[in-house]
Amino acid sequence: MKGIILAGGSGTRLHPITLAMSKQLLPVYDKPMIYYPLSVLLLADIREVLIISTPEDLPHFEKLLGDGKNLGCQFSYAEQAVPNGLAQAFVIGEQFIGDDSVALILGDNIFYGSGFGQLIREHIDPDGAVVFASQVHDPERYGVVEFDAKRNVLSIEEKPVKPKSNFAVPGLYFYDNQVIQIAKEVEPSARGEYEITSVNNEYLKRKQLKVGLFNRGIAWLDTGTFASLNEASTFVRVIEERQGTKIGCIEEVAYYRNFIERDQVLALADRYGKSGYGDYLKKIVTPVIPA
Ligand code: TTP
Repeated sequence: MKGIILAGGSGTRLHPITLAMSKQLLPVYDKPMIYYPLSVLLLADIREVLIISTPEDLPHFEKLLGDGKNLGCQFSYAEQAVPNGLAQAFVIGEQFIGDDSVALILGDNIFYGSGFGQLIREHIDPDGAVVFASQVHDPERYGVVEFDAKRNVLSIEEKPVKPKSNFAVPGLYFYDNQVIQIAKEVEPSARGEYEITSVNNEYLKRKQLKVGLFNRGIAWLDTGTFASLNEASTFVRVIEERQGTKIGCIEEVAYYRNFIERDQVLALADRYGKSGYGDYLKKIVTPVIPA
């Protein structure tokens, strides 16, 4: 399965911060935002990743992440000239996807919690499509999914005035290869965007849309406003300082999923100067022998 990170957009809710800088390069506590969604794809054992961003921002992502070889991965890059919707990812990424299935993750979504890796690995390479459902107190701000006891999807609506459930659809989606053709046929919505909800509704019409449920131990955060960006940083800081473990550490996930070995992690640690990030990488590959 391949993976796409959508890291474009205009970030207007974060102006003036994002006037000269991509939202997905902003810090979420101790690392750039894009580390978080990238670590999720690695956690799903996805090693071939396409990063889509604006023509101005794309070179910065390339500088940050390179070709991915040092993580045992393959990263490539593509421009989205105009941020006119999430469904465009599959049109831009057509050649990259080829004949494979594909996961899409939004560059400003953060996931964390017990059982999360296992849950997403259960759903990779689907027949049809898989979206996830996460309980929120303000579903009207998101795509909302309604489903029955057997997790059959009954409806999926974008920012409904009267939500049919409290379950929002986070920015992580798994599709089979039909998604390319479906995305090409999507019509722009009333707000002029090629909506991912239109893609999901087509899978629903074909009776090929499944839902994976986040239990309440799995946190889903987005970072699109001043407050939510700040809250995400605080969340990451609290967990990291309390536990001494990192959230969204791409090198750690690559090591943990056996993409790279100890020596490669140590080589990567040298890149990180005096920040403490490199020391963390050295620590995780040093076996602790109980006395
Ligand atoms: P949004 O938060 O919907 O949009 P945005 O990032 O442009 O911000 P704002 O609402 O403040 O103007 O986007 C969600 C994610 O998807 C975000 O990581 C940016 C990305 N995105 C694209 O890469 N291309 C697009 O066409 C859109 C709509 C979003």
